[in-house]
Amino acid sequence: MVPMTSSSNANFPNMRLRRFRKSAGLREIFSETRLSASELVMPFFVTHGKNIRKPIEPMPGQFQFSVDQLLLEIKEITALGIRSVLLFGLPKDKDQQGSEAFASAGIIQQAVSAIKSHDTDIVVITDVCLCEYTDHGHCGVLNDGGVDNDATLDLLGKIAISHAKSGADIVAPSAMMDGQVGHIRKALDDAGHNQAGIMAYAAKAFSSFYGPFREAAGSSPKQGDRRAYQMNGGNIRESMREMELDVAEGADLLLVKPALAYLDVISNAKNSFNLPIASYNVSGEYAMLKAAGANGWINEKSAILEIMTSLKRAGSDLIITYFAKDLALILKEGLDE
Ligand code: PBG
Repeated sequence: MVPMTSSSNANFPNMRLRRFRKSAGLREIFSETRLSASELVMPFFVTHGKNIRKPIEPMPGQFQFSVDQLLLEIKEITALGIRSVLLFGLPKDKDQQGSEAFASAGIIQQAVSAIKSHDTDIVVITDVCLCEYTDHGHCGVLNDGGVDNDATLDLLGKIAISHAKSGADIVAPSAMMDGQVGHIRKALDDAGHNQAGIMAYAAKAFSSFYGPFREAAGSSPKQGDRRAYQMNGGNIRESMREMELDVAEGADLLLVKPALAYLDVISNAKNSFNLPIASYNVSGEYAMLKAAGANGWINEKSAILEIMTSLKRAGSDLIITYFAKDLALILKEGLDE
């Protein structure tokens, strides 16, 4: 903060901040926060089958894609300058252990190798979690007391290895198990994948904003909720501890999630760590804006731009958002106001 000066030089009428708001050119050159398509990550839901492009009802404009359709969609987004994708899988069958999550012919494993065989440049990030794959819908294996942290770690390690083996550049453990980053780092290294990075869902809050995702991914817990492993969103000091631990365990990139209701967490993360910081503009944030836009209650495009600008301003180096394609188009073509 610059201290207030008593010199009359710094005051009105000498200082007029409107000078630099006068024209589009001035506004543009003095713009402090700029977005580019290359800092956006597009999440996708991948499903078995062929020629499938199934709309996700609470997320208008988003689909479950079979691998062939996903490849077509990826072509479109890369043409707009998007460089990275985050993949979530819908398994054929679910069981107690979530076995398809680490099966070599699992949906994610198939998708990653197909993507990489078409385009080696695209950065592929994969979700490492069990909730889409377990029949009970929790992010780990259950014991009498709930989700068994340490038994889950072994499965997360297996998932990460299978993703890296298929060609994933970065694995993204989102289960919020203690020790997951360190365990996965060791598992990857022991299996010869020391070049696979880890995006740690470091500060992931228990949130009502994941609702639409759970419909998209079929991953709602059948019983209970995720409060015993996801964070209390009101705890910023604990968020910092989560991040410190993940850094110490070998994270390459820290993620804050959700994004919009956690801007202070993003900004604290940016000021405290020298790792890249990502934020995840989650399904509920997408759904709210889409609903208001569809009703004509808000100008959707300029609201997208304003929200994404706030995530960048708060400190995000990467933004994971279902709006990635829309935003990349806006950045290319401008707002049609
Ligand atoms: C799975 C996972 C979730 C999301 C990302 N990974 C759901 C959850 O934790 O319930 C939510 C993403 C979104 O809402 O867009 N562990």
